[in-house]
Amino acid sequence: MNFRILDKCSKEEVASLFTSVFSSSEGEQEGRLIGSLASALAERTDNQRIIGVGAYEDGSMIGAIFFTRLRFDEPIEAYMLAPVAVSTAHQGRGIGQALIRFGLDELKDRSVTLVVTYGDPAFYSKVAFQTLSEDVIQAPLPLSMPEGWLGQPLSGKAIPILKSRPACVQEFDNPDYW
Ligand SMILES: CC(C)(COP(=O)(O)OP(=O)(O)OC[C@H]1O[C@@H](n2cnc3c(N)ncnc32)[C@H](O)[C@@H]1OP(=O)(O)O)[C@@H](O)C(=O)NCCC(=O)NCCS
Repeated sequence: MNFRILDKCSKEEVASLFTSVFSSSEGEQEGRLIGSLASALAERTDNQRIIGVGAYEDGSMIGAIFFTRLRFDEPIEAYMLAPVAVSTAHQGRGIGQALIRFGLDELKDRSVTLVVTYGDPAFYSKVAFQTLSEDVIQAPLPLSMPEGWLGQPLSGKAIPILKSRPACVQEFDNPDYW
């Protein structure tokens, strides 16, 4: 298995991976929703505002992850991890965690100091995410599951308390995702 930063050419493969994985785990409607989100992210990936990483085996994409920039009024380099998927046939072999660790190392190399995500704490705690209070870091949109708001510092220091509400990339500016 190898990891690669995604470019726009991966759009079809990304759409098909996310649609099929999320249809299997969350149902067809969620599959379509996350498939179209992932497709939009792949189409506009620029390796800065939107960073995608693919996991490949024998030339085929078996997993993928996106990190998108969060903008605060305060000077801090922050990204949000979402979404991530590993093909149903390859789940449970450590690929999801390896993909996340590869992405976090890439962000560390770029001097990013904060990463947040929104998902199941039972899974993300395996890769060092901790529950994040909105008194510390607000979410860009109102959360339907505040217990799923998670973060980790990449700087070695504690997560700072930030007063501003961050702006997410426009692809995530939709209450259906939150
Ligand atoms: C979540 C996902 C990316 C994890 O990738 P993976 O390669 O299967 O995970 P890994 O093999 O690295 O890690 C497996 C561990 O994570 C746990 N895990 C996997 N998916 C989980 C989930 N949705 N919720 C909670 N725990 C989960 C497993 O129970 C396992 O724990 P164990 O090692 O204690 O037995 C993958 O299962 C997936 O694509 N799921 C469907 C889409 C999804 O839920 N994406 C995340 C959105 S928040």
